[in-house]
Amino acid sequence: MYLGLDLGTSGVKALLIDDAQRIVGSAAGAMDVSRPHPGWSEQDPAAWIRATEEAVAGLKASHPKELAAVRGIGLSGHMHGATLIDADDQVLRPCILWNDTRSYAQAARLDADPQFRALTGNIVFPGFTAPKLVWVAENEPDIFAKVAKVLLPKDFLRLWLTGEHISEMSDSAGTSWLDTGKRAWSDALLEATGMTVSQMPSLVEGTEVGGTLKAEIAARWGMGAGVVIAGGAGDNAASACGMGTIGEGHAFVSLGTSGVLFAANASYLPNPASAVHAFCHALPNTWHQMGVILSATDALNWHAGVTGKSAAELTGELGDTLKAPTSVTFLPYLSGERTPHNDAAIRGVFAGLGHESSRVVLTQAVLEGVSFAIRDSLEALKSAGTTLSRVTAIGGGSRSRYWLRSIATALNLPVDVPADGDFGAAFGAARLGLVAATGRDSLTVFTPPATAETVEPDAALRDAYETAYQRYRRLYPAIRDAY
Ligand code: XUL
Repeated sequence: MYLGLDLGTSGVKALLIDDAQRIVGSAAGAMDVSRPHPGWSEQDPAAWIRATEEAVAGLKASHPKELAAVRGIGLSGHMHGATLIDADDQVLRPCILWNDTRSYAQAARLDADPQFRALTGNIVFPGFTAPKLVWVAENEPDIFAKVAKVLLPKDFLRLWLTGEHISEMSDSAGTSWLDTGKRAWSDALLEATGMTVSQMPSLVEGTEVGGTLKAEIAARWGMGAGVVIAGGAGDNAASACGMGTIGEGHAFVSLGTSGVLFAANASYLPNPASAVHAFCHALPNTWHQMGVILSATDALNWHAGVTGKSAAELTGELGDTLKAPTSVTFLPYLSGERTPHNDAAIRGVFAGLGHESSRVVLTQAVLEGVSFAIRDSLEALKSAGTTLSRVTAIGGGSRSRYWLRSIATALNLPVDVPADGDFGAAFGAARLGLVAATGRDSLTVFTPPATAETVEPDAALRDAYETAYQRYRRLYPAIRDAY
């Protein structure tokens, strides 16, 4: 048995697979995001531990025997978070998350130093880790002075599980401190932010062993001795392992809190000018590109909060039949945006409202706005040399038929829906646990799921969608100066 632990933004998921990679069971533990100021987004790392304990306790209650047979654990987590710990491994402040944009000025300053794009292959986005540390140095110097290690969220969980400071390539590529082509920390980039390599965890590949479960936790969870922890992956690379998105031309669209269009590459293909992310994959000697939008299901959840309905009620009243876009356009920039605009200050808008703009019309505009933002990422990937012929959909938002039809039509690409199952980051993490514990060839493990159905673009609505997308494109430059 192998256990995948995915530290998501809204909760931890624990998922068990057997040697044949059949899903045996899963359980979850919930968490919140705290937003103490506009543009800030934080989590208390203690909540990650609580949610992990809750999820594993759920599995222990439902599958005690299977949990006892676990040999390998894989970790996945939301990327870029700055978890700061002192020399005694004590947490110094709440973790600053991937969608926190407070360090936009520091990010712009680092990005203006050409060595960052040259070595990392990426824009220094405000959500990445390095500019956050510069923000802490400038705004919380007492805390900065005590930082002994900076850990990514899942690697803080690893510290708790194993007592070791270890990370892996896919998540570390999102810090702005990794030489992404060489898969090694860059002394020059660390120095440019007042840091040294001694403050970084050691690095393994995602498929390699990255620690052993502490005896006291193994005993509490009913596991034996010597349970291996895999290097694991950032949540997007972990999802790719779950989906078998490892070969050139394979791609998925993820509708989670963030929205991601992920493409596997046969080689390292950086193109920072297009705001495409170029990161290491979780397998040795492989890389990937992705476009990232900061609010996908987060946009629908925001709309749900404002209207006092649940997201399921809102999509339910919209129905499943794709409609032509109305006069209303929604820009989903609730936390600013990464691909393609790299604009931390921009905020969302509803444009084109009329007396007839009902709640249903607004829900439709919210889903379309996210679809158009993903289309922007498709265009960015194209300009980075990657052409896609189909994508597979994953994430909570992909449960909405309407949304899948809207994405397929906005991208003008067939969208494959995996056969029933749970092929996201927790599954990918469990697969990484299996490979690290058994040494099995990852190419035979990271296979794609069967496709249950393919959602085709709606030919009758293609022109209407294209017109609405072009209007969406014109709105950003029109409102940018207002922010
Ligand atoms: C990727 C990114 C998000 C987070 C949260 O660059 O910021 O997708 O990993 O899921």
